[in-house]
Amino acid sequence: MTASASENVHSIKRAGPPSLDPMMALVAGGMNSVNAVILDRMQSRIPLIPELAGHLIAGGGKRMRPMLTLASAELLGYSGTRHHKLAAAVEFIHTATLLHDDVVDGSGLRRGRKTANIIWGNSASVLVGDFLFSRSFELMVEDGSLKVLKILSNASAVIAEGEVNQLTAQRRIDTSEEQYLDIIGAKTAALFAAACRISAVVAERDEAQEHALDAYGRYLGIAFQLVDDALDYESDGATMGKDAGDDFRDGKVTLPVILAYARGDEGERAFWKAAIAGHSISDDDLAHATGLLRRSGAIADTLARARHYGQRAIDALGMFGNSRAKAALVEAVEFAIARAY
Ligand code: IPE
Ligand code: IPE
Ligand code: MG
Ligand code: MG
Repeated sequence: MTASASENVHSIKRAGPPSLDPMMALVAGGMNSVNAVILDRMQSRIPLIPELAGHLIAGGGKRMRPMLTLASAELLGYSGTRHHKLAAAVEFIHTATLLHDDVVDGSGLRRGRKTANIIWGNSASVLVGDFLFSRSFELMVEDGSLKVLKILSNASAVIAEGEVNQLTAQRRIDTSEEQYLDIIGAKTAALFAAACRISAVVAERDEAQEHALDAYGRYLGIAFQLVDDALDYESDGATMGKDAGDDFRDGKVTLPVILAYARGDEGERAFWKAAIAGHSISDDDLAHATGLLRRSGAIADTLARARHYGQRAIDALGMFGNSRAKAALVEAVEFAIARAY
């Protein structure tokens, strides 16, 4: 092999840990337009709406999903601007689900700030979430593509299904890895997949490219949520901008718990049963749980599963030639796996 042939996107040398910087640099101009659309369309004559939505939106967030829409469009060489409104629609769907999710999960911290449900209450959070969902559909209608509308409306329904499915699995220690993957495939991966896929529609590419970008986003989304579920035990509020231990206290059966429960001896399994049922969820119990997760290899193997799905995401890009956009998409996967926030 020649030196240049071996110099593929997987072997580009990097100074620091993987980051979203290359993707950010790639789509910086487009993201300015996307952010302008977001700020414009969260406005309302009812002051509480921009106040509450603005609190969450100004908290930042990684903006991964709209950046993925833009970077996917770059990958395909699309030079128009239609995808700016659509990327804003994607971020609105994400923002709406976060408002609803924090009510459902009773969470108190998001993006390093008090959650909207703590400040304004559950009712206001749910209703402003509905407003943002509706705004996202207005943006799609303005774009006019029924195909995009179909992809994003389906993704929205699937996210809701995933959240409801997770609700029915809550406090059920017998949840299987398959059921868990079904849940996260819906609540998280569906929007990542749709965010990437709509670029192929806008760029008028064939089904094969549409499916490749859908697969890239879907596997990235699964890897992203697996890591998120490990971080819920391994990180802290100051780093993540969210409270650690929420999943434990809520009786959420995420993959780390599924693996530790499967591998536990009698006493450990009794502990997990009681904890997931909500009987032992003190800070000491959480520390005990984290110890078990580490010793059983459950955290390490959750991250190993994340790497597997991350590799599948990267492999889904195989049909696209090397480019700055492809390198940025590959590094976004590596970031999702190595991330601490
Ligand atoms: C949070 O998503 C919800 C999950 C799917 C875990 P992000 O981690 O992308 O949230 P922000 O937008 O950066 O705050
Ligand atoms: C995130 O789910 C919300 C959706 C994907 C709809 P989680 O409840 O697992 O994530 P965080 O920890 O609140 O961000
Ligand atoms: Mg949550
Ligand atoms: Mg949740």
